[in-house]
Parts: sequence; C-alpha cells; structure tokens
Amino acid sequence: MTYIINGKLIAEELLSSIKKEVKDKFEIIKMRPKIATVLIGNNSASKVYVNAKLKAAENVGINTELLTFNEDINNKKLSEIITTLNERSDITGILVQLPLPKHLDEQIVFETINYKKDVDAFGIYNIGLLNHWKSQIMPCTPQGILFILKKYLKDLSGKKVVIIGRSIIVGRPLASILIRENCTVTVVHSKTINIKEECSLADILIVATGVPNLIKADWVKKNSFVIDVGISRVNNKIVGDVDFENVKNFTSFITPVPGGIGPLTVANLLLNTLKLFLIQNNLSSDVAFIKNHN
Ligand code: GUN
Repeated sequence: MTYIINGKLIAEELLSSIKKEVKDKFEIIKMRPKIATVLIGNNSASKVYVNAKLKAAENVGINTELLTFNEDINNKKLSEIITTLNERSDITGILVQLPLPKHLDEQIVFETINYKKDVDAFGIYNIGLLNHWKSQIMPCTPQGILFILKKYLKDLSGKKVVIIGRSIIVGRPLASILIRENCTVTVVHSKTINIKEECSLADILIVATGVPNLIKADWVKKNSFVIDVGISRVNNKIVGDVDFENVKNFTSFITPVPGGIGPLTVANLLLNTLKLFLIQNNLSSDVAFIKNHN
C-alpha cells in the first residue's frame, strides 16, 4: 500500500500559521510584508503561476504589487526595474517570474535582487549561504520537499536520494540541502548515461524534468519514496513527470500532480516572504511553526 501525500492539505496548514503570524505582527508593528511580483512577456503558464501566488499572498494578509512588462524590454530595463524595487522601502520581497523571454539574461535576476528581499532564495548570495549551511531561507520547492520528507521519514540519514534535474531552482539547491541531512545524493540529468538504472537504486526519487510521464513503474525501487515536481499539460489535463497510476503500486509514499508539491511551493514562497520581513524588522523568525518547518 502506498501513501498518497496530500500537498494541498499540508500547504493549507502552513498558510494558516503564516496568516496568524502576519496578523499578530501587524497588531504589534502596524506593518505587513509586501511582495512585488515582476511578470515579463506572455508566457501563459507563468501568468497562471503568478496569479496563484498573488491570490495566496493576499489570503494570508501579505500585500502584493504586480508589475507587468512587454516581452521586448531589454536587460538594462530589467536591471533598473529590480534596482528600483530593491530601493523601495515599502517592498519587503521581490519575485521575478521565470523563465524570462529568451533575449533577457536570467543571471541579472540572480545577481541583482537584494538578498534580503530574495523571496525565491535562489540569488547567488542566498545560494552561497545555503551551501555554507548558514541560510535562514531556502528555495521554495526544495524547502517544501524537505518538509515532506522529514514529516514522513523523520531521519533522512543514510538514505540514497536520486534527483533528476539540475536546475538552480530545484535540483542543485535540493542536492545541497539533502547532503546536509546526511543523505547520499546523486543528481542525474539529460547527459547521464543510464538514468533508469540510477533511479532503480533510489530510496528517495525526486523528479524535476518537465517531461510528462517520464518515470515508469520499472524505473523505481520497491517501497521507495517518489516526489514529482513536474507540471505539464497533456490533452488539457495537468500531469507530472511520473506515470502516477502505475508507479504508485511500487512506492511507500508518492506525491500526486496536481495537489502535491505545487501548493507547497507557493506556501513556502510566503513563508520566505514572512521570514525576510521579520528579519528586516529585527523581529525573531524563531516562531515555533517556522522552526518546525526547517
Ligand atoms: N518559475 C518556475 N518556478 C519558479 C519559482 O519558484 N520562482 C520563480 N521566480 N520563477 C519560477
């Protein structure tokens, strides 16, 4: 029997703790976090994600500002937009939705957002802190995945983890986090010689490729823990990177798509937004639920 993880429910619990903390702090300092979200171009998936993030933020009492720009802005304009937001004292968090239009340099996002406002926690300074095991916030999807793994397995020490995908948003920071948790981590990617064989050795398999239904039942170890980060639309249906219906018969725990990791990513974005706001105001981010979430 496998246990299908209800990410939506876990995210709702986290969101209600965030909402309470935002309200409590507002009563004391009469300020709330405010996240500026930058959306450039016409990527329809990005529009859906940004709307979901804005709605979730407003629901927990975090103020929002959406800045939209045409596809044809240049790198200089992108730098200026971020610099202005860095300097604005009413903005406590900045999010630039990726991917950017092809002609823009995403490195500008990673290097320009002030690390104290970097709610995605994937800028170079925050990634540096993460790799020194000194960070107070972690990239949102890896932070959500760590929470799930600890919730169900408690101690991760000695587990063999295989991560498919080496992005700066998911694969690379997740590898760092799980090494810190004493896992033995293998990161596989498009140039790996035998991905299937690597996967079959994993106690914990985490898939972040964006290739729908890539992982088949005979790729996974019996009783493994499978986490699906992918979100694709196939025949008007949302599917993940894992062939869920068949793979679930071989796992002990599995996350579905939709309703698995996606809602946790959004909730962790707001957790990061709250933490950075508390730090900026010299308030302790040592709140019990936050501690439990690390
Ligand atoms: N695009 C896909 N995932 C993310 C994310 O977590 N943050 C940002 N800023 N863009 C994304």
